[in-house]
Amino acid sequence: MIDLPVVSDPRGDLTFVEGGNHVPFDIRRVYYLYNVPVDAERGGHAHRELEQVVFALSGSFRIKIDDGNSKSEYVLRDPRRGLYINKLVWREMDNFSQGAVCMVLASRPYDETDYYRDYGDFLAATSA
Ligand code: TYD
Repeated sequence: MIDLPVVSDPRGDLTFVEGGNHVPFDIRRVYYLYNVPVDAERGGHAHRELEQVVFALSGSFRIKIDDGNSKSEYVLRDPRRGLYINKLVWREMDNFSQGAVCMVLASRPYDETDYYRDYGDFLAATSA
């Protein structure tokens, strides 16, 4: 988990993130998920090279991760606390709350050839 700084005053909270400082890579892409149905399942893939940090900017969701040897799961609900996901880690996301917003900081531009979308192919890569 990565804890970001927070600057709080009576006007509210401010959190910031600097690539290469608070996250261990230069940020090349930001994307966010919103209008997610509460029964949706997202993810279901791993990446060859991409590193990411995932935040719940609003609401909450569950994220299950699997490095091919061990599995764990987290509930993200604090906008100042993100989950770092290294390359070669399978992830699945579900249990989105109504109105949840998921923001992802990524180390590379979008590239479909960087994805493992087949779990068998992912497992083969982790045991290679
Ligand atoms: P995907 O990464 O499978 O979404 P999730 O892991 O949240 O379920 O991406 C869904 C679709 O969006 C897929 O067709 C690829 C496209 N996409 C982009 O075009 N650019 C992006 O930066 C991302 C993350 C996805």
